[in-house]
Amino acid sequence: MSGQSKDQILEQIAGLKNEMQESIAAASSAEALQDLKVRFLGKKGTLTGILKGLASLSGEDRGAVGKTANELKLWYEGANEKKEGELRAARMASLATEEFIDLTPLPSGLVMGDSPARPGTLHPTTILQRELEQIFTKMGFAIADGPEVETDFYNFEALNFTDDHPAREMQDTFYTKDGTLLRTHTSSVQVRTLQKNGAPLRIVAPGRVYRYEEIDASHEHTFYQMEGMVIDKKVNVANLLYLMQTLLKEVFRRKVTVRLRPGYFPFVEPGFELDMQCEICKGKGCAVCKHSGWVEVLPCGLVHPNVIRLAGFDPNEWQGAAFGLGLTRLVMLRYGIEDIRLQMNPDIQFASQFTRGIQLQEAL
Ligand code: DAH
Repeated sequence: MSGQSKDQILEQIAGLKNEMQESIAAASSAEALQDLKVRFLGKKGTLTGILKGLASLSGEDRGAVGKTANELKLWYEGANEKKEGELRAARMASLATEEFIDLTPLPSGLVMGDSPARPGTLHPTTILQRELEQIFTKMGFAIADGPEVETDFYNFEALNFTDDHPAREMQDTFYTKDGTLLRTHTSSVQVRTLQKNGAPLRIVAPGRVYRYEEIDASHEHTFYQMEGMVIDKKVNVANLLYLMQTLLKEVFRRKVTVRLRPGYFPFVEPGFELDMQCEICKGKGCAVCKHSGWVEVLPCGLVHPNVIRLAGFDPNEWQGAAFGLGLTRLVMLRYGIEDIRLQMNPDIQFASQFTRGIQLQEAL
């Protein structure tokens, strides 16, 4: 390594630049570029090797060659970045063509091959939601609604989750850049509706909710719940249980096996978990019930006095019962759907299995 002249080293640097130029031009992926960077500029890279030869030069020559080497390094980094940008743009362009989906709707009544176009069908979630709405309307409940992009106040704070409340960790939340969030539960309609409509109140609020979840057979980032709330002058656990039993009897149209466990939710006290024996495996254990034989369907409880107070009412005067029905989960249980991910599947073949021949017109 010793004994190289300044000119020899400069020549090596010039040679290296050519090699770099050609290699960058030939690189066809971000990984290839990364490998090149290691090869040229890494600890054991070519440039580093060349620079080791500087030791044999005089101070002045070393300065001059060092400067050239430095310039080469800067040039390389610029060229590398430019190429990275080009590769990225090329990738985007190819995605746009390779993964193009034609969203142009087919003209209605189009005949495909010999078979006439299939009529639309209602999604099982819609079927069950409408059924539940009817059951509750008969019991004197109103249907309430609330926004899916919600404030921290209605989703958490008004429901007795304090800022540092560990229970906030129970639900992984999607936040937006401006500080709002995608509601993690339909409980967010509780205080909204109470403030708007006042007490006494009986509502159910079906809707879509979002969680930042790892997706598997029983977890989705987007699913449906139906919140229920009764606010009146005297509400107790017996009222709550009667409501829950009536509901399940109507949904399953037969006796279902349930169990009640204490459950913790900041906005109810006492709080319960109502579990139903898994309909899919009949209690034997499967992926849906996480091999426990039971599925949580109805967390519920008596509305916490703080929630009533935060909505502007006197908890000594008004009490409440609430439940958060897992609509998506209930659909799975009722229809024996083993994988929650199927429910977000836009394939009409999936949805059409549940109407059992009912045409859209009739179902509506
Ligand atoms: N909001 C809760 C959740 O999504 C469910 C819930 C639990 C709702 C208890 C309630 C309740 O109204 O009383 O996890």
